[in-house]
Amino acid sequence: MKVLVIGSGGREHAIVKTLEKSVRVSAVIVTPGRPSFASDKISCIDLPSTDGEVLAQFCKSEHVELVVVGPEVPLVAGVADTLRSYGVSTVGPGKVGAQLEGSKVFSKKFMEKYGVPTAPFVEVSSVEDVKSSVKEFTAPYVLKADGLAAGKGVYICKTEEELFASADELFNHNIFGDAGRVAILEQFQPGWELSYIGLCNGKQFEALPLSQDHKRLLDNDEGPNTGGMGVVGPLHLKPELIEQIESEVVEPTLKGIRSEDMLYNGILYIGLMITEEGPKVIEYNVRFGDPETQIILPLTKNDWGEVFLELSQGNLVPIQPSSDFATCVVVAAEGYPVKAIKGAALPPLPKDTEKGFIFHAGVGGEENQLVVDGGRVLNVVALGESLGEARDRCYGIVEQVRWVGSQIRTDIGKKVL
Ligand code: AMP
Ligand code: GLY
Repeated sequence: MKVLVIGSGGREHAIVKTLEKSVRVSAVIVTPGRPSFASDKISCIDLPSTDGEVLAQFCKSEHVELVVVGPEVPLVAGVADTLRSYGVSTVGPGKVGAQLEGSKVFSKKFMEKYGVPTAPFVEVSSVEDVKSSVKEFTAPYVLKADGLAAGKGVYICKTEEELFASADELFNHNIFGDAGRVAILEQFQPGWELSYIGLCNGKQFEALPLSQDHKRLLDNDEGPNTGGMGVVGPLHLKPELIEQIESEVVEPTLKGIRSEDMLYNGILYIGLMITEEGPKVIEYNVRFGDPETQIILPLTKNDWGEVFLELSQGNLVPIQPSSDFATCVVVAAEGYPVKAIKGAALPPLPKDTEKGFIFHAGVGGEENQLVVDGGRVLNVVALGESLGEARDRCYGIVEQVRWVGSQIRTDIGKKVL
């Protein structure tokens, strides 16, 4: 079958490279993709990724049988509904389900309604609102833009002054436009983070290998929030904790998805903080994590052509984890996440091996001269029999691919180790 993948980041590069290996898949078309993704089986085309009608017409005329939507923006725009209405099998929730990520207010109210543990919160839409609610919370304060902000709409503020300045930026300077007209003020949750990602058909959830992202730019979780600077997995949790997450978080979430008639058939990413009081949901994402996917897919033995096709039809294929451990380190551009400086030449990249490979995230140019074309540029992934081995191998490759000005964290996986 021919598969269309929507997106252009490291997550999508991992998806298309995984689909390339599927015996079920004859061709992978990616939109927009990147020139450096192309291979015998992979091609790129520029289509308007939030226009379901155009995507559906393309699938019909090119005999594409399956669409896998990588990022959240097309899902929130409702492309999965439109594609399905044309009979194109699609991985990803419809517009209503995508609100779980598309609106923090919607998702917090959903959690409240269905008894999913999460931080106490209030909805705010002005600096005055924030000032009048602040006494209900203790520092540090968390302020989150309601809408999509590419992972940058969350402020963690140590003091009231910082909080009010952030609210001013959000509501009076509109730095996230409409996405920041409304926001959530919520209680900070101390603990450790876990990306609980799985296949979801609205009735059941099939967990994928568990992973831990590193969201802050700098070592020791300092500096600004980013889309994610590196990830390790699988995390082998105590069975009691898994049971608690399944019963306290996954079950009520599924109940909510069913009760709200959301057509899901996609990936559900539950961002958890494991606190002393148990797991708390920080956020839902309605798609694969980036960079989590870059290690999750290589940590499974399944044929993902089959997994995605079945998922698009509401069937969950049991996931077969491999026995490996994996580390992904993101090599980011100078200036990221504030303003990535594009154009720097990348060094020649080492050839991929079974145990070490590189996904292209913000990469431009052609194979003979790749250049920086985004914030998170390269995703270096390595596998090993232990996390330590995977980590050492990964940083070994990272050293070969750095350029002047590039940024990495040197402590990916250190906490888990
Ligand atoms: P979000 O976009 O909601 O996932 O938030 C981005 C990051 O901010 C999360 O991955 C956490 O590291 C941090 N964060 C968000 N909300 C909270 C919270 N209530 N308590 C502690 N950290 C948080
Ligand atoms: N890695 C975090 C995310 O994909 O939202």
